[in-house]
Amino acid sequence: MEFSRRNFIRSASVLAALSLSEIQSLTAKQMIKTDGKTIAEDDEAYWQNVRQLFPLTKDWTYLNNGTFGPSPYPVIEAVKNGMLDADQMGNYGSYEATMPKIAKFVGANDDEIALTHNVTEGINIACWGVPLKKGDEVIVTTHEHVGNAAPWMNRMKVHGIVLKKYTPASTAAETLNRIAALINKNTRAIATPHIPCTQGQVLPIKEICKLAKDKGLFALVEAPTVPA
Ligand SMILES: Cc1ncc(COP(=O)(O)O)c(C=O)c1O
Repeated sequence: MEFSRRNFIRSASVLAALSLSEIQSLTAKQMIKTDGKTIAEDDEAYWQNVRQLFPLTKDWTYLNNGTFGPSPYPVIEAVKNGMLDADQMGNYGSYEATMPKIAKFVGANDDEIALTHNVTEGINIACWGVPLKKGDEVIVTTHEHVGNAAPWMNRMKVHGIVLKKYTPASTAAETLNRIAALINKNTRAIATPHIPCTQGQVLPIKEICKLAKDKGLFALVEAPTVPA
């Protein structure tokens, strides 16, 4: 671009119109351009650039991805734009175009997904939808987030179900053994986190679901976090 007083004033006024967070967001987005290339999990430089997308103070490493998790700039912008659109146009909802994209991302059909306000709300809907009677058993971990503990504890109080707990082991095989050892004729469901929030371990969720299916049990996976 030819350097001229007019161009300089134009670009300076564009930048001046942007807030600091918008400038940081633009810079960060340019830094993580991948040009369609797959990023290796151990590409430290790439992940450090992803970190730049979060306004979160650099003094903190924040591991909570739930409701209270910090959002990256593109999400903050999308939420801001969505709210402006709703407030300017009175245009609420309208998720129809988004649903197929989300369904594709999680490998489901469009009519198999529901959007909830947060993970805990989704867990409550699923938990209270499982047909359970007094004495029925549900397997959970000893590492539950309150979002997956409270709904089942409420069903314990209201319907007299029994909670059986396993502590995730250091190997997938041993974790599966521990779950299998809890299954008996009263077991109805395995309700487990994919990544317990207490220690960040990735549990063998496919195998756990297969075990549940083989035994004719409901498998409820609470997975607010996608493993890297
Ligand atoms: C394993 C797990 N379950 C449930 C939740 C609750 O998520 P939300 O705050 O979206 O209800 C969290 C939040 O971090 C979590 O880590």
